[in-house]
Amino acid sequence: MRLTDAEQAMLDGREGPAKQKAMDLLVRYGEALGAERLVDTNNVCTTVGASTPFLRDFAAKAGGLDAVFSEFNLDSPEAVKIPHAKAFTCQLIQGLDPDHWQEQGVSPEVHALHGRNEAFSADIGIQMLNTCTPYQVGNVPVKGEHCAWMESSAVVYCNSVLGARTNTEGRESTGAAMLTGKIPDWGLHRAENRFGSHVVEVELDVESIMDWGLLGYHLGEVVQEGVPVLKRQGRVPDLSRLKHFGAAAATSGGVEMYHIPGVTPEADSVAGALGGRRPQATLKYGAAERARAYAELNANAKDTKVDFVMLGCPHSSLEQVWHACKLLEGKRIHANSHLWIFAPRAIREVADRNRYTRIITDAGARLMSDTCPALGQVMPPGVRVAATDSAKQSHYLPSIMGVQTWFGSTEDCIQAAITGRWQGELR
Ligand code: F3S
Repeated sequence: MRLTDAEQAMLDGREGPAKQKAMDLLVRYGEALGAERLVDTNNVCTTVGASTPFLRDFAAKAGGLDAVFSEFNLDSPEAVKIPHAKAFTCQLIQGLDPDHWQEQGVSPEVHALHGRNEAFSADIGIQMLNTCTPYQVGNVPVKGEHCAWMESSAVVYCNSVLGARTNTEGRESTGAAMLTGKIPDWGLHRAENRFGSHVVEVELDVESIMDWGLLGYHLGEVVQEGVPVLKRQGRVPDLSRLKHFGAAAATSGGVEMYHIPGVTPEADSVAGALGGRRPQATLKYGAAERARAYAELNANAKDTKVDFVMLGCPHSSLEQVWHACKLLEGKRIHANSHLWIFAPRAIREVADRNRYTRIITDAGARLMSDTCPALGQVMPPGVRVAATDSAKQSHYLPSIMGVQTWFGSTEDCIQAAITGRWQGELR
């Protein structure tokens, strides 16, 4: 890999041991990938600290968050002092909601650890957006901008909808990018890798959030790490629909980018999205494919008595919170069920001021932020059967939390929370 003089200086340790370790990591990582150089980035999304479940024990033994960052963000068993971030860096989700941690079943010790995480993050200049959807709350990179983002649902949105450039990075590479402002130039940073690989002829109207989730879940399974190009008619999908589509495709497969000609910024036409190349395959998506995806997402749910409904995976937009309020206003959640809606912290602040939080709370539901059931492993006690409008959450809840999970529309989910019964179906 060819380094600039400034990069070589960091590798030689002239900017301190943490940046030396970060640059060493990026060179090893880049060489393993066949990258020939690094690119500059000033937009990093990472996760720092130890409030997520798998790191709590390590934090307790290691005795400090510099040690956690060294081991898990820099791949260094030797603990070094972490300096201020060089690149603009945002925090993804955490292990708990600091305003609802007791309801989430989090211990006082973990809550205290979370407080120390936040103080540590603030000291090193991390922006505490605390969401998997940074693009909903102010981190909106422009077309062509090089980023270093974790979180598959955010990555696919960043590449496809915004036209910015990132691979699905890990905690280590984003930690190194944060300190150096560099990331290896490979994969989706390079224009030649951003063209479509599969054409998908969509024969149905895909309109609701549930339907975009089903389309994404099906396509992820079929194209795996390909770049699908959708040929379709119908209404232009909004942020929430594209968010659910990409999240689902990145869950059942490894989709990091897609094109919708006339909608996404690197696709003026199908031919343009393909870059003049022949597609690997042309697929169709019709009623049979839609029904199969719905059946797969509901495959492990048998019991119709629903204990827990989760909305907001990926985290809800303000419009989704507003929509949920309209469905909940004047209603009451069933005594044996819970409804938790997740949104970015900043959107919850607006919801508070718009009295949406009050409507949700009066219905017996909760508006939460900062975390989610699958990754934070937070859930009401005793849940056996969950329901969600998210293909991604429906995919992960059975394996991570061991609960039966129904998948359906937002309306079916809220109805399940009100009646305590799952009555959803593919309409
Ligand atoms: Fe976000 Fe958790 Fe879903 S991190 S994308 S709400 S699994």
